[in-house]
Amino acid sequence: MRRYLIAGNWKMNKTNNEAIDLARRIVLNTKGIEKIDIVICPPFTALAPVYDAIKDSNVRPGAQNMYYEDEGAYTGEISGKFLKAMGCEFVIIGHSERRKYFSESDTDVNKKIKKALSFGITPIVCVGETLEEREKGKTADVVKKEIIGALQEQTDKEKIIFAYEPIWAIGTGKTAQPEDANKIHNLIRNIIKTDFGMDETVVRVLYGGSVNPSNAEALMSQPDIDGSLVGGASLDVKSFVEIITTSANLA
Ligand code: PGA
Repeated sequence: MRRYLIAGNWKMNKTNNEAIDLARRIVLNTKGIEKIDIVICPPFTALAPVYDAIKDSNVRPGAQNMYYEDEGAYTGEISGKFLKAMGCEFVIIGHSERRKYFSESDTDVNKKIKKALSFGITPIVCVGETLEEREKGKTADVVKKEIIGALQEQTDKEKIIFAYEPIWAIGTGKTAQPEDANKIHNLIRNIIKTDFGMDETVVRVLYGGSVNPSNAEALMSQPDIDGSLVGGASLDVKSFVEIITTSANLA
């Protein structure tokens, strides 16, 4: 049975004091929820105090990105080695904002996944189509290309978590219809099974894109949706906790 996972992607939000406060409230309000995994991904600057604030709780430490080299002359980058040393357990890789604004390619994504896995950090790999691609009927092709790029020459593939995030749904308030999202999740399972011989029944596939307390239940009850990568709504304790409790009730 796949465990639900709800991950909060705080993006470039929260100063350290704000981040500590939010983390403490999440811990307080999710006490005793053991049936699902709860992950938070604060900005790099807040990782240390936030990891400290969640250390004796059921909230797991995540990060939003990492570089694939361990150390060296890569100004501004943070390596998986550093994240591991801080206790990071999950890392978002290939978010569409990184692909778009920071020109991350499928090759970069592939290398980052490989490195994260080598440190025992679970990568949450994002895939998804733009509105234009969707309107041209290219969703399946785009998702397939990104999945294939991510999985080339990986070992430990079943440890990877995927997040289907239609780009037109991110931060826009528009969400994919639950049944439509489920179809893509199902497609992802088919690709990893037929192209990579993976056990598609164990790999977790999250949905992301304007998930909020009012649509969480319909999305999370889909058979192939195993949780969510939450952006905007994860910055608000009440909304994030509601999404978590809704998912825990379904688990
Ligand atoms: P959103 O972001 O929930 O604000 O749409 C999701 C994401 O980017 O992971």
